[in-house]
Amino acid sequence: MVQLTKVNKYFGDLHVLRDIDLSVGSGEVVVVIGPSGSGKSTLCRTINRLEPIDSGEIRIDGQPLPAEGRALAQLRADVGMVFQSFNLFAHKTVLENVTLGPIKVRKKPKGDAEEKAMQLLRRVGVANQATKYPAQLSGGQQQRVAIARALAMEPKVILFDEPTSALDPEMIKEVLDVMVDLARGGMTMVVVTHEMGFARNAADRVVFMSDGQILEDRTPEEFFDAPRTDRAKDFLSKILQH
Ligand SMILES: Nc1ncnc2c1ncn2[C@@H]1O[C@H](COP(=O)(O)OP(=O)(O)OP(=O)(O)O)[C@@H](O)[C@H]1O
Ligand SMILES: [Mg+2]
Repeated sequence: MVQLTKVNKYFGDLHVLRDIDLSVGSGEVVVVIGPSGSGKSTLCRTINRLEPIDSGEIRIDGQPLPAEGRALAQLRADVGMVFQSFNLFAHKTVLENVTLGPIKVRKKPKGDAEEKAMQLLRRVGVANQATKYPAQLSGGQQQRVAIARALAMEPKVILFDEPTSALDPEMIKEVLDVMVDLARGGMTMVVVTHEMGFARNAADRVVFMSDGQILEDRTPEEFFDAPRTDRAKDFLSKILQH
């Protein structure tokens, strides 16, 4: 579903993605972990072309990433993204946030879009918040709305960039529960997270990045029980102490 081949990306002199090869099969859940600044967010952003790459190739469902225009808008609709900071439209209700993309981009009739949106809001447990504005919701509720909004576009893959790291501890679980439910339901997911419990329970593979390179790409059991590289051992020893 997602295929990166020899992808390189620079910010000026800084080589942030180095010969990245990564493939994510349909229905697969890949967790990306690694130290701050290793290129995890940049990797996500290149996959839906929020950042252009300097060399290599990215394919979604077999198609190379379009550079611009209608084809790019279509790609963005196929590749959902959920950010740390929710990014909901502040002046639209929860329901409007979820129906906007389907109506504008997918050209769904309003009634159909609303019916589907309510189904999704029920699925993520916030249907009773539909007429409120984002600021009236807790962080965990906002993030679940953001997930419903991504799902409403019927994407082929959803990228999550640290979806729980801006949340209070008691809200993390409610968001992770929704993500585990999606993973079990067969959604193709790329998830940048420090939630090692999620990685162990829901990931098919863990990708460990350091300095713009993928150093390990293995099952969670293999990775957590016997990391191969010193960088990964060092990283795990730091986070697992907490
Ligand atoms: N727009 C930009 N312009 C210049 N440098 C950037 C830009 N975005 C990211 N960088 C740099 O690229 C490197 C990789 O950043 P990135 O945000 O992908 O890391 P990350 O692994 O997501 O880190 P974190 O865990 O802190 O979120 C960092 O050195 C960062 O400072
Ligand atoms: Mg990041």
